[in-house]
Amino acid sequence: MKELIRGFSKLSREDKVKRLIEQQKLAPQLAKVFEEYLHPHQQHLFNDISENIISNYYLPFGVAPNFLINDELYMVPMVIEESSVVAAASKAAGFWAQHGGFKAEVIDSLKNGQIHFTWPGNIALLNELRNEIMKLIHTVCRDVTKNMRQRGGGIVDISFASIANMKDTHQALIKFNTADSMGANFINTCLETIAPHLIAYINKHDTLSREGTATHIMSILSNYTPECLVSCRVSCAIEALQPYAAQYSAHEFAQRFKTAVDIATNDPYRAVTHNKGIFNGIDAVVLATGNDFRAVEAGAQAYAARKGQYASLTAIKLSDTHFEYTLTLPLALGTVGGLTNMHPLAKSALKILQNPSAEQLMKIAAAAGMANNFGALASLVTSGIQKGHMKLHLSNLLNTLAATHDEKRAAAKHFKDKVVSYAMVEQFLRAQRG
Ligand code: MEV
Repeated sequence: MKELIRGFSKLSREDKVKRLIEQQKLAPQLAKVFEEYLHPHQQHLFNDISENIISNYYLPFGVAPNFLINDELYMVPMVIEESSVVAAASKAAGFWAQHGGFKAEVIDSLKNGQIHFTWPGNIALLNELRNEIMKLIHTVCRDVTKNMRQRGGGIVDISFASIANMKDTHQALIKFNTADSMGANFINTCLETIAPHLIAYINKHDTLSREGTATHIMSILSNYTPECLVSCRVSCAIEALQPYAAQYSAHEFAQRFKTAVDIATNDPYRAVTHNKGIFNGIDAVVLATGNDFRAVEAGAQAYAARKGQYASLTAIKLSDTHFEYTLTLPLALGTVGGLTNMHPLAKSALKILQNPSAEQLMKIAAAAGMANNFGALASLVTSGIQKGHMKLHLSNLLNTLAATHDEKRAAAKHFKDKVVSYAMVEQFLRAQRG
């Protein structure tokens, strides 16, 4: 059995790599790869982001032009490892820019935090005392919320509810406005400040304490933010969809598109893939701007299942003449604080977007999601998805197989009308190389 490593975090980067190579019996040349991807001048910035860092992991940073969102033209930065996503987003953005663009609206931007506690009392009693408890919260959090209040944010509301299927277990659900920050640290600091005061309040209150003793369990923000909601819509005359309709008439295409959306509304297997296509665009913007894509995913996936069955995040309306397509989802994003201000490329991404507010970024990310989903469905109901993927797939395979410039040119010609697979590209290169 391999030995447990002690004190790994205290080793220098070079010693960590040495230890890793020894322990895993790796080729010593791997050390060079890790070194090659260190930043020559600004490695200290990346060293502060995580722990036990031995190198940096590169992902492509692309830009999708022509995003017309509420009459404002954006070039949208996208960080993604999957080929075709930026191309599909750019194509859809260019199309919709000629048909009124994306109309996006932030429905609300409240975030949630929870304090969980046990208490044998009746939760309705706590809800009756909400106003008094809110005053207490404002008092104990005065210093913690000072800056946020100056930026227009703060603690907005509190309510109490019991946890389903659990005896004597409750939550205080606290709503926050975090202005332009995602606000995770702010919310958690507020919750940890409030919790001991809230528990003491219950345990000292004449009526409440008679019901029994309250005990704090935990305090943390919730990544479920159904009130931090954005909606993005595109619409046009059905006839205008002809460029996407391929072998179909525009009306047939619109009907096939609607059937595809209806399937995603009613079948969870399809809904997951449909929504994954939306997240191709959203995650790419979230990642580019230094936001927390796990938080965004977890919250929006829960929202997709809010009616008891996982379903599409988009909805479609088709009249005899008109096509209207809407995406609605929670997106808790920030444009100040956290990685947004630390990572040089996240800062650059925000500059590309003309330093948007958090609400503007919600709209931009939603438009990117809508663009990718529209592009994916349009392909799926016409030529299928593989045709468009083939060129980029071929290029990825050629890079993997270390093809030269001339080999790439020959391959592009050879595979123009053929299906591309790893085995076929390998065979082609073998023949080329004699
Ligand atoms: C692939 O990354 C995304 C799609 O599967 C989305 C969809 O099926 O709608 C093409």
